[in-house]
Amino acid sequence: MHLQTLSLQNFRSYISLSIAFPPGGALLEGLNGVGKTNILEGIHMLCTGRSQRGASRAEMISHGQEAAFLEGGFCPSSPGGAMATASLGFSRDKKVAMKIDGEAVGSYSEWFGERPAVSFGTDDLGLVYGAPDGRRKFLDMLISQIDRAYLDALSSYRRAMACRNALLGRTGDPVQFEIYEQAMAESASKIVFRRVGAIEELRPAVSEIYGEISNHSEPAAVEYLQKFKCDFSCAQEWQNIYLKSLVERRPRDAELLYTGVGPHRDDLRFLLGGRAAKAYASQGQCRSFALALKLGSVRLIERHRGGGMIFLVDDAVSELDHERTSRVYPLLEGRGQIFIATPKCQFALGGGVLRCAVEDGKVVIAG
Ligand SMILES: Nc1ncnc2c1ncn2[C@@H]1O[C@H](COP(=O)(O)OP(=O)(O)OP(=O)(O)O)[C@@H](O)[C@H]1O
Ligand SMILES: [Mg+2]
Repeated sequence: MHLQTLSLQNFRSYISLSIAFPPGGALLEGLNGVGKTNILEGIHMLCTGRSQRGASRAEMISHGQEAAFLEGGFCPSSPGGAMATASLGFSRDKKVAMKIDGEAVGSYSEWFGERPAVSFGTDDLGLVYGAPDGRRKFLDMLISQIDRAYLDALSSYRRAMACRNALLGRTGDPVQFEIYEQAMAESASKIVFRRVGAIEELRPAVSEIYGEISNHSEPAAVEYLQKFKCDFSCAQEWQNIYLKSLVERRPRDAELLYTGVGPHRDDLRFLLGGRAAKAYASQGQCRSFALALKLGSVRLIERHRGGGMIFLVDDAVSELDHERTSRVYPLLEGRGQIFIATPKCQFALGGGVLRCAVEDGKVVIAG
């Protein structure tokens, strides 16, 4: 699948932009602040409904405008498949309209995964150094692209937890708590087991890719860290123990005014040479690790959904030393449509990539 046409209206710095892309993708070159990342963000929104830099929908609507509208024409990888038009509109008063070929799409789980996309950016380093929230988002985004039921479980869990949190400090009525805690435990067990399974699949890929990028300098590993510690052999057992812990925690959570255990507090641990990367690894090693995580997630999506995804590369590898950079590009090339945003391209690109010069609000095809 590749993006053939993109249209942005009142989106970030673009009041109106229409552009066509070849299956190979595009290189977006231009000075700082001209709107290169905005284009990648528009594509990411059309693929996942989310901004790759964590922006809210309101932030993405052009200043002074009330609503943004994005449309993408996506061609399937298989010959003869029909082109699909995905459109997304959102307004400052929080209305959202998602359509595929003009038909309304009711939920994000229907939107996710049909147009798989993986973004690579300088912010990826935050995966290693940043707060657990960024690592959970990375994992949730990855699993949502390969498993629709996962996003439904996440939504149910968040809804039930919001209801439980609203009760905390207001009532001690066990009947009211039980309803939401039961719903939380059911979806939490699905989430945790899916995450543990995804990490099991991701671990060998990350280890192998890190080895390729770093010339096999030190072994890399990923672990899923549960805040809620329990020995369990099956999802039902885990669910029962978690439910019991929610009941026991009610007085403590009532003081905190939030739920203190569950998948929303879990984390990932990254190890290099058996030690925590965050604490001991160099910047370059952490950058390579972040890249290996993203490339590993590409392998996972390919395994589950087939090839032909969209890669959004935002200055991701230019800060790596030359030796590592030269190993990274061959790992992406030929695996999908690549969009690269950079002030100045410092590496040789394969054929079939459209060269574009981005200037304020305009994209000029450079050949
Ligand atoms: N909601 C918005 N409405 C209008 N303009 C916006 C909006 N949000 C951001 N911008 C503008 O978009 C520009 C930044 O675009 P973008 O982040 O795509 O730059 P860039 O080309 O990727 O730059 P760099 O090379 O520094 O990463 C800024 O000029 C900013 O003021
Ligand atoms: Mg940018």
